[in-house]
Amino acid sequence: MSVLPTSGRLQWTDVPLPLRSRLEDALGAPVTDAVTPGGGFGHQLAAALRLADGRRVFVKAAPDGDPLTAANIHEAAVLAALPSGASAPELLGIHRAADWTAVVIAHLDGPHPDLSSASNDAEQTWALLDKLTSSPAPASYAAAVSTVPSTAAALHGWDELLSAPPDDLVPAACDRLPQLAELEAAWPALAHGDRVVHGDLRADNMVRDHHRGVTFVDWAHATTGPACIDAASLAPQLVLAGHSPADIARLLQDHPATASGPETTTAFLAALTGHWHRNARKPAPPGAPGLRAYQHRAAAAGLAVLGYRLN
Ligand SMILES: Nc1ncnc2c1ncn2[C@@H]1O[C@H](COP(=O)(O)OP(=O)(O)OP(=O)(O)O)[C@@H](O)[C@H]1O
Ligand SMILES: [Mg+2]
Repeated sequence: MSVLPTSGRLQWTDVPLPLRSRLEDALGAPVTDAVTPGGGFGHQLAAALRLADGRRVFVKAAPDGDPLTAANIHEAAVLAALPSGASAPELLGIHRAADWTAVVIAHLDGPHPDLSSASNDAEQTWALLDKLTSSPAPASYAAAVSTVPSTAAALHGWDELLSAPPDDLVPAACDRLPQLAELEAAWPALAHGDRVVHGDLRADNMVRDHHRGVTFVDWAHATTGPACIDAASLAPQLVLAGHSPADIARLLQDHPATASGPETTTAFLAALTGHWHRNARKPAPPGAPGLRAYQHRAAAAGLAVLGYRLN
């Protein structure tokens, strides 16, 4: 069963008392303050807890019947198995009480990165992705993610839009529907690989920590796959942050993670933009205000980048 907040995220005070006490015991100090950062679309508790001794930790928690608990446990297994060079916070523990589960993660201190051209955060992010994907994932990581099917491999949407084109589909998509559906159909066979894939790379799933620099968070969708997935996912995010689609298309041509597999990159971008174009038109899910509007914007940004690869 999901416990949904009336708006935004569950708060620290929504967590059952036995789990709050269990966490305070494990952390060795009472919680004096809980701050919910902005960003993301989830409904679970995702909060920075301040402890009476001044330390801070980051906690994600949900009831055990909520699918987000399975996602949090997957994220915890991923954090424990990532290679040491990966840009991610450390897992501090998993705690259960009152049919809820909480995952405790090292706290990162700072804002979301600024992916606009006014900052060098985007450059730092490209460099992190190069490092993350330049060698195969360690066996322990591959084992940790092997139990959960890759959501990236299942992305599609143009197939459904081709069979029933919506009236409001932009000409850039209408004119190419059969080609987009064909490219997307090639994706599942190309979706396999041995690299670490974060699987949900957006500015709100990164924190620019004052000491560590840009750090990737929210590893709930992590999997293994071809090197291009995260770099190609980042491309529309940079367009949304103000970069020109032409510049970003050039970057994808040159970045090692995408340059090494141009066909795979194009097929992935087709599947991702198809997913967004299709899902943006669905009714809004409960507890995720803003998701559909974001998908509309991301769909247009992704298609603009993909357009340069098809011309
Ligand atoms: N280790 C951390 N330290 C500090 N802040 C963090 C940390 N991890 C995540 N955050 C912040 O909390 C927000 C929510 O965390 P996260 O993205 O992991 O939760 P989620 O519920 O899985 O998100 P989504 O809504 O994207 O599914 C992030 O956008 C980020 O701002
Ligand atoms: Mg998130």
